[in-house]
Amino acid sequence: MTHDPAQQEDPKAQLVKRKLEGVEIPLNKQVQAKTATTFLEYVHLVHNALPELNLDEIDTSVTFLKHKFSAPVLIDAMTGGAAPLGKINGNLAIAAEQLSLGMVVGSQRAGLLSDEAADSYAVARRNAPNAFLAANIGGAQLAKGFPLEAARKLVDMIKADALVVHLNPLQELIQPEGEPLYKGVVGRISEFAEKIGVPIIVKEVGAGLSREAALRAEMAGASAVNVSGLGGTSWAGVEQIRAEEREVTDKASLGELFWDWGIPTAAALLEVTKAVRIPVLGSGGLRNGLDIAKCIALGATIGGMAWPMLKRAVISPEVLVEYVKALIGEIRGTMFLVGSRNVEELKRAGYVLTGPLADWRQQRTP
Ligand SMILES: Cc1cc2nc3c(=O)[nH]c(=O)nc-3n(C[C@H](O)[C@H](O)[C@H](O)COP(=O)(O)O)c2cc1C
Repeated sequence: MTHDPAQQEDPKAQLVKRKLEGVEIPLNKQVQAKTATTFLEYVHLVHNALPELNLDEIDTSVTFLKHKFSAPVLIDAMTGGAAPLGKINGNLAIAAEQLSLGMVVGSQRAGLLSDEAADSYAVARRNAPNAFLAANIGGAQLAKGFPLEAARKLVDMIKADALVVHLNPLQELIQPEGEPLYKGVVGRISEFAEKIGVPIIVKEVGAGLSREAALRAEMAGASAVNVSGLGGTSWAGVEQIRAEEREVTDKASLGELFWDWGIPTAAALLEVTKAVRIPVLGSGGLRNGLDIAKCIALGATIGGMAWPMLKRAVISPEVLVEYVKALIGEIRGTMFLVGSRNVEELKRAGYVLTGPLADWRQQRTP
């Protein structure tokens, strides 16, 4: 049976409700990967018993798209679109500003609905006047003809340093009101890259970029890609729950089937970092500073986190700042243990790949 009461709602109200659920469900229900993992557990950094450096002389800073970050940490895309979500964006931005990091706001189409909705994103720039901030629009929106002028408004809304285009074919497939229509997306990314006036970052939302997808994004003019792989928040999981609540049974069972679908984050990094020349970000299931350090050793410039940041941001900015400081301490600690003075050296740190990750590298076709 397929029955969706949501289809009778006003589309604007429906979008705002979806934005609220997009935070409430990951916060209150189990929507992390079930048995799939990031495969980062199969990356072993080689311990250096003779590091010949002191912990306090390690430089964790990185430069990304001409912006200096104090550490290779990105608050990855999450939310906005209604007043309570503005509070979360405000808190995330406080942490980004205080710690000189970067932040991507959530998908911003909802920001065009009202002044209040726009403000739930704009608060990020007010609270983070200097931090790297990226605007966000869906690849599915671009494929459907989202106008360049409207995208410019989204960029202006937060005086963005870059525009993220998120690719979510899995989510569109499962979402009760989803539109799995991606034809034409690459051409639109090219058009935006040429005309929007800020760098474009192409990202997944938790199912990973393959090397082919990353190469197409690079050829279309993306200035960076974020693999955002499997192993953390599952958008098939979020949409499975939404479909079940609405009794959209065909979507609910698709969500069950594809809950753990995707390219594990470490495998995606192996695929992408050697294939493209633009900077690569790693996200999807990163849960501590060691995970971020491993991503960098695999060739990423920065590691991003979404869900762990959300859980702290809803408590207070102070709790989030303390959490991120500890995270940076873990990255620094890892750098000490592998003998890396700075992030460039961490990129060259020795590692061993084992198990399914080594298989992925060896067996991948074509
Ligand atoms: C609550 C929540 C909302 C999200 N909303 C968006 C979004 O609007 N746009 C986007 O590009 N990615 C979005 N994501 C995906 C994240 O940016 C990230 O790619 C993915 O969650 C994997 O990271 P994680 O495992 O650390 O959560 C969202 C993630 C979470 C947890």
